[in-house]
Amino acid sequence: MNYDVKDLSLAPMGVKRITWAERDMPVLRSIRERFARELPLKGLKVSCCLHVTTETANLLLTLKAGGADVVICASNPLSTQDDTAAALVQKYGIPVFAIKGEDNDTYYRHLNAALDHQPQMTMDDGADLVSMILTKRKELTAGIIGSLEETTTGVIRLRAMEKQGVLTLPVVAINDTPTKHFFDNRYGTGQSTLDGVMRATNFLFAGQYVVVGGYGWCGRGIASRARGMGAKVIVTEIDPLKALEATMDGFEVMPMDQAAPIGDLFITATGDIHVIRLEHMQVMKSGAILCNSGHFNVEIDLDALGKAATGHQVVRDFVEAYTLPDGRVINILADGRLVNISAAEGHPACVMDMSFANQALMSEWLVQKKGTLENKVYDIPTEIDEHISKLKLATMNVTIDTMTPEQQKYLNGWEMGT
Ligand code: ADE
Repeated sequence: MNYDVKDLSLAPMGVKRITWAERDMPVLRSIRERFARELPLKGLKVSCCLHVTTETANLLLTLKAGGADVVICASNPLSTQDDTAAALVQKYGIPVFAIKGEDNDTYYRHLNAALDHQPQMTMDDGADLVSMILTKRKELTAGIIGSLEETTTGVIRLRAMEKQGVLTLPVVAINDTPTKHFFDNRYGTGQSTLDGVMRATNFLFAGQYVVVGGYGWCGRGIASRARGMGAKVIVTEIDPLKALEATMDGFEVMPMDQAAPIGDLFITATGDIHVIRLEHMQVMKSGAILCNSGHFNVEIDLDALGKAATGHQVVRDFVEAYTLPDGRVINILADGRLVNISAAEGHPACVMDMSFANQALMSEWLVQKKGTLENKVYDIPTEIDEHISKLKLATMNVTIDTMTPEQQKYLNGWEMGT
């Protein structure tokens, strides 16, 4: 078996941690049990480009239980959990091409290695596999039933491909379904981002100014969690509706150039490039901490900071201190890459349970729809979303009301007013 991981001797700890995550993934477990009986993915070659975490391992085991022949590479050079990667190879026989801290060349070599599997289905977190297929590995297109996309940034890229008429595969926007982004993006990113900051820096949120760039689902989660920890939270936005929402949610909203001199900690989650630029860093307090929870490491202009700084040094794991000519220090976490998954463990298994239940069920859906789909971005059918919400509620011992016949009739009619 071909693979490239850091160290196979890490496997026993990886197995323990994968098993621990499984406790909190009951919806995925129920799908895995059914898949093992029905084998809906029998013989299907799947190449995944996902964060190699314990939660992802449980997804891969579910696909494998369904009969799929799966390989995986990392969707970010810093997000791999090396013990998980080792366990997947050694204990579960799944080829992994991922090493935490790999350089860019290795990252792309690993992507190619995953595609050498000749997939009939791909699973992306950021659309890197699909981008590579469309540009450098076009020969693979004919054999592919479809692709699944996990994250906001990936869906944005795929919709841009569709708009430009270059998308040559059907893809499913996992991110856009409510049982994904309401929970994973909001509560998952919200909690794990603070976790990443705390593990990297030991920062105290209470009483400090936290500037959150972007009030999408991730930004909402980060802002509300930071407020919950006692921080004074400022939100920056470019979208008037989201800015209004943040204002009425009780946050201070202002442009980044006004927030820059106030903030103690800056967290970007916009999905856009250069949200924090040198002009902002030049007015920040000395010691300010900057990090990013958006998919790509483009939100903080690190090139400009590197050029302007007189020097920089690693002062703790995942913390690099840049000194500016006037002596002020700007601290950058995790090279501006996803702080929640570089410096912490990513989203807790409890929310990944729903995200990955969507992935598993939609991989089955793609097989069922083989040959009937167009080369466009598909949303998840509402029934699947409802099915996952019901299963998740049941696992949380939450029961809800059922409409009475009178209520159903009322909602289906229009005649009755006050
Ligand atoms: N994205 C964010 N958190 C994650 C996790 N724990 N596993 C896989 N992908 C993730």
